[in-house]
Amino acid sequence: MRVAVLAHETDFEGWRKAARAFRQAGVAPERAAFRIGASGDGLFDERLPLAGPGAAPFSVPKAFVDLAREVILHRSADRLDLLYRLLWRLGGEPDLMKVVTDIDVAAAVERARNVSRASHKMKAFVRFRRIEDEAGERWVAWFEPAHRVVEKTAPFFVRRFTSLRWSILTPDGSASWDGEQLTFGPPATRAMAPSEDEVEEFWKTYYASTFNPARLKTKAMRSEMPQRYWKNLPEAALIPELVAQSAVRTEAMVAAPAPEPNARLARTLSRLNRDGAFGEGFAPSTLDELDQAVQACRRCPLWRDATQGVCGEGPKRARLMIVGEQPGDQEDLAGHPFVGPAGRVLDAALEQAGIDRGDVFVTNAVKHFKHEPRGKRRLHKTPNTAEVSACRWWLEAERRLVRPKVIVAMGGTAALGVLARKVAVTRERGRGIDLSDGAKALVTVHPSFLLRIPDAAARAVERDRFVADLKQARALL
Ligand code: URA
Repeated sequence: MRVAVLAHETDFEGWRKAARAFRQAGVAPERAAFRIGASGDGLFDERLPLAGPGAAPFSVPKAFVDLAREVILHRSADRLDLLYRLLWRLGGEPDLMKVVTDIDVAAAVERARNVSRASHKMKAFVRFRRIEDEAGERWVAWFEPAHRVVEKTAPFFVRRFTSLRWSILTPDGSASWDGEQLTFGPPATRAMAPSEDEVEEFWKTYYASTFNPARLKTKAMRSEMPQRYWKNLPEAALIPELVAQSAVRTEAMVAAPAPEPNARLARTLSRLNRDGAFGEGFAPSTLDELDQAVQACRRCPLWRDATQGVCGEGPKRARLMIVGEQPGDQEDLAGHPFVGPAGRVLDAALEQAGIDRGDVFVTNAVKHFKHEPRGKRRLHKTPNTAEVSACRWWLEAERRLVRPKVIVAMGGTAALGVLARKVAVTRERGRGIDLSDGAKALVTVHPSFLLRIPDAAARAVERDRFVADLKQARALL
């Protein structure tokens, strides 16, 4: 047995160097082992072989390297062996990574998917608590990710909370941001993180006020907010009580008159009216201001039935902007774009196209959810041309602030919003279209279209075409 010792669980460069040396020295996967830290137990007497001067150099597809970087973050003990088996097999099967039905490829892809999901959950479920340290205010969170995604996910929090000082403590390691530099430290324990503060009360109030008993779906709730994360979420303490009350609250809601805008909205409205927000001269100068102003938008009637306006999200200088149609049921409740089923399709396709969603500004052509009630459900309705035109004002404001180089319009409504004309998606998809501000647009299908294709084979073909369009957008950058 040949043994390579890696510095730590996610030591990708160490694994890469060792695996390269193994393969060059002709060490078959059954004779190769990877250990973390000093092995020192005497079981493994042959150490890492050094490739001789005559060893043939080799290269591997980028798709493998990208996948391996993700898979190494998976908690499974055999992930390093799996990756080496793939690397070894690539020697004789250069197209192996394209064989998605291969057992090793499928296992690696599945693990990468789990890692991506764990990173996504971390973005959604980290809750900071405020403390004071010698330098002033610091926000500290305790989080237990399903996989080792702290380093991968920390840059997202840097972008989100650039102006705050914060630390995220986890059993795998900690990440800290001091306003200028991101650093990683040793593993932490829950006891090292503060447990309560007034911000929790805010979260609880917010959650209780957005919790809609008429749409209670405990199964969906559990899959979106898995119970393993509940213990660190202040609002989770409210769930059993809110669930128990839901039948009573539904009746009360049905009987109650339509709600008045809440106090915050009323304040925003009056401030924006006072500042002339609806006058000719108003133009939001930041994305935050735009977000506030959208909450007060009365450019078309869609605001009446929506929970809130949902603006775009992403880096404020993203090079790529992706535009959907309008928020769906889940987005309307959460206040974030593409967090429901269509969002999951989009996330997977972006990943496959080699695009990090964290680098993309994701938004919609229309900012309020248009729907009609059907029993307890709210059924999506396509916005009409007048509504899309009214909302183009906001989309153009987002474009002016973000200044993307490429804008992907997903579906006819998004294309109408971006290009200000009716577009036949099937005819115009997949190619760069010049826009007056120097950016390029690229039209493709909407992810919900993929969700609606009943036949699995046809769905797979369309999904590949969608990924190909996203790759084309990436190439335009
Ligand atoms: N569909 C969209 O077009 N946008 C969303 O945000 C969600 C679903």
